[in-house]
Parts: sequence; structure tokens; C-alpha cells
Amino acid sequence: MKKIRIGLAGLGVVGRGIYEILQKDSKLLTLRTQAELEIVAVSARTKKDFLDPKIKFYANIIDLANDPEIDVIVEVIGGDGIAKDLIETAIKNGKKIVTANKALLAEHGFELAKLVEKYQSHIGFEASVAGATPAIKTAKENLAGNQIKEIHAILNGTSNFILTKMKEENLDFAVALKQAQDLGYAETDPSSDIKGVDTAHKIVLLAAIASGTKPNFAQTYVEGIDEISIDDIKLADEFGYKIKLLATFKPGQQAVYPALIKKSEQVAQVDGAFNAILFNASNAGLSLIIGAGAGSIPTASAIVADLVDVARGNQTFLFGVKSDDLHEATIENISQRVGKYFLRLFIEKNSGEEKPAEKIFDEKIKIEQAAFFDRGDEILCGFLTGEQKESELSEALINLDPALVKSAKFIRVETTNF
Ligand SMILES: NC(=O)c1ccc[n+]([C@@H]2O[C@H](COP(=O)([O-])OP(=O)(O)OC[C@H]3O[C@@H](n4cnc5c(N)ncnc54)[C@H](OP(=O)(O)O)[C@@H]3O)[C@@H](O)[C@H]2O)c1
Repeated sequence: MKKIRIGLAGLGVVGRGIYEILQKDSKLLTLRTQAELEIVAVSARTKKDFLDPKIKFYANIIDLANDPEIDVIVEVIGGDGIAKDLIETAIKNGKKIVTANKALLAEHGFELAKLVEKYQSHIGFEASVAGATPAIKTAKENLAGNQIKEIHAILNGTSNFILTKMKEENLDFAVALKQAQDLGYAETDPSSDIKGVDTAHKIVLLAAIASGTKPNFAQTYVEGIDEISIDDIKLADEFGYKIKLLATFKPGQQAVYPALIKKSEQVAQVDGAFNAILFNASNAGLSLIIGAGAGSIPTASAIVADLVDVARGNQTFLFGVKSDDLHEATIENISQRVGKYFLRLFIEKNSGEEKPAEKIFDEKIKIEQAAFFDRGDEILCGFLTGEQKESELSEALINLDPALVKSAKFIRVETTNF
């Protein structure tokens, strides 16, 4: 029987999950591929006790890429340092690649696409976006007969878990983050998750496939959830909305930011550590996919599916079209966004202006809903605007009377139509 000889680079959370699935589900995988998927060599910084002693261990990870007895490299190290060297060397040596590395592909995807074509290689990267939840292949294969017009997605389980905890248990951001860390949902350094960078890497990849463009991380607007307060969440709730860390792709826009979404919309109902991707496609219409976005076995499940593709000989262009046909993405500055906004203000209690929004804002800001809460010596105010241009709103907020308004900020309101 045909053998697919695997070199596994990285034996951490995901690497160990891959090792486990390939052992426990080997019969099933052979039935589906008519091949044996076998790990023949591994590499990590340190050797692990759980490894079968028959498997070769390389202390230098690049040795995996130079081993002629390996057909496919699974890269689950992360980052764009040694992982990039490994993948490039392996491609040049005629090997196929499976990876979970969104950062590498979002920032170097175009040059890797060129290299893959030059050496007739292949990179499977389903695990890099939304873990076990089928996102990449849905965009690239299932929706191949469509123009993908819009994507709205929750792509970071850590942030979704934190926002859900804050809302359900009335917790401050810092307390919810600590709980996420204690439960293993957030890393010791959670900045990539809570500042939106992880989500941005993922929407860059989906957007490249959806629009046939070069992955463009540099121009993607990125804002995380680290400035979201429990007051924001309560006021949003009062207006019938939830706050989610949302990745959006639509004509002219590729961005990540916390957004108010109506509670009645499906995406708003995806809570806890779950991920969700809502595609709006020209022929298929709306499809919403929900599932586990991270974790050892769920992420490994997506890696193993890509290994099955390698065993079956399924091969596609990295971003769905030939690299020469990938054009530059057209992404407008976020200040050009036109949409609704949620405003949160603290105003002086005895300013005599507690109620009328007209006295706080000039006529450029169209207020549709307002809510006020007495907070001792100040008033917490929430407003929902009509459709506004973001640049005009930002300017109006800067020009608010400082004697009246103690602090002001806005959060975007998004409609997913589903
Ligand atoms: N964790 C998830 O749920 C998840 C979900 C989706 C995607 N991903 C992606 O999957 C990848 C791996 O994530 P992870 O959570 O499994 O990371 P991890 O637990 O930190 O594991 C990283 C592995 O890489 C090894 N490594 C690091 N630098 C190395 C070097 N210079 N040479 C050899 N080995 C090296 C480490 O070796 P030691 O064990 O010896 O330290 C470790 O085994 C990342 O790209 C991540 O973004 C993760």
C-alpha cells in the first residue's frame, strides 16, 4: 500500500493532537485514502517522552526539510522565522506542506504561492483559519462557483470567550481575561488575540481567496477588544445588541474591530470560544459555519484533513487562482466607512445637559436612540447614530465641549443580514 511519509515540525498543542489522531484513526484514514499516513520524523526544541522510539527526532528542524524519506512536512511551530525557512526549503526539495500558520501566510502568502507553483508543490492551510471549522476549503472549493461578496466572521475564540463572560457574568475585561487564561483559552501573553492581530491574519487569508487578491495584512484595519468595558456591553444590551470581535470583508473594506450586532442576528448568538464565518456569495446566498476555532484535537482535525488531500492528490492554487492572476486588494482607509455607530459618553452631572442629545452633538451627528444611567457625579450616556461617515463622526467627537463631556468613544455597528 502507498505510504505518505510525514515529517512533523512542532510537538506542542497542535503537534501532539496530530500525533494522537494519526495513531487512533489510522484505519479510518487508510480507508479514505488507500494509503498509510505515517509520521516518520519529528522536530521540536526538546524531545518528548510520548514519541514512538522508531520515529526519527531531529534537533535541527531544517533537517526535516532535507530528509529524502519525507513526502510532506506538517509545520505547527508558528511565526515567520524558522517556520518560513523550513517551508521554503521543503518546497524546493519537492515536498508538500500542511500548516496552521496564519501569520506566515497572511504576511508572506504571495511569495509562497509563487514558490509553490514553481516547484509544483502544495500548501494545505485549513487549520490556520478557525481551527476545526471549515473556512478555507469552504471559500476555495465549496463556493468556487460564486463571487464571495461579503464575509462577517468571529475568528478568535479567546476574544469571543472574554466578551461572552463579561456579558453573562457582568465582569470587567481584566477579570474575564484572567478567567480565560486560567481555563487555558488565553495564552500568558494574550496580546495577539485581544488586540485583533490573530483575527486580522485570518480575515486576510479569507479575503485573498474571496477576492482573488494578494494577501494584504499591511492595509487591514485592526482594533481589538482590550478597550471594551462592561459599560459598553451593558449599553449595547440596552439597545438590543451584543458586542463581538468581528472580521469583515466587503467591497473596499477588510477590517477587524469590536462591533455591535443585533441580538437577533445569528452571528451575535455565537458565544463562548466558538468561531463563526458567514459568507455572502453570489449564487449560494448566505452560509453560516460555526465550530471550534482552536484546541489541540480540533485544530489537528483540520491538519489531518489536509493530509488526506495530499494522500488523495487533491491540489489547488494557494489562494484559489494562479499567483500571476492575483491582483492588488483595494482597501479603503477605515475613516471612509459609512455605517451606524454606538457612542459612549460620560457627562458632568450638573451640567444641565443630562438629556438632550442635541445639546451635546451638532447637527452632523444623527442620533436614533439614547440611554442614560445616573453614576453619582456623572451620567453614563449611550447613543446609536444613523448612517454616518466615520471621518465626520471622529471629527465631531474631538470637537465636543470638554466642559460638558468627560470622555467619549465610539464602536461600529454592523449588520450581517442573517
Ligand atoms: N493552539 C491552537 O489551538 C491553534 C489553533 C489554530 C492554529 N494554531 C497554530 O498552530 C501553530 C502551533 O501552535 P501551538 O499552539 O501548537 O504552539 P506551541 O504549543 O507553542 O508549540 C510549538 C512547537 O514548536 C516547537 N518549536 C518552536 N520553535 C522551534 C524551533 N526553533 N525548532 C524546533 N521546534 C520549535 C516547540 O518545541 P518545544 O515543544 O520543544 O518547545 C513546540 O513543540 C501556530 O502557527 C498557531 O498559530 C494553533
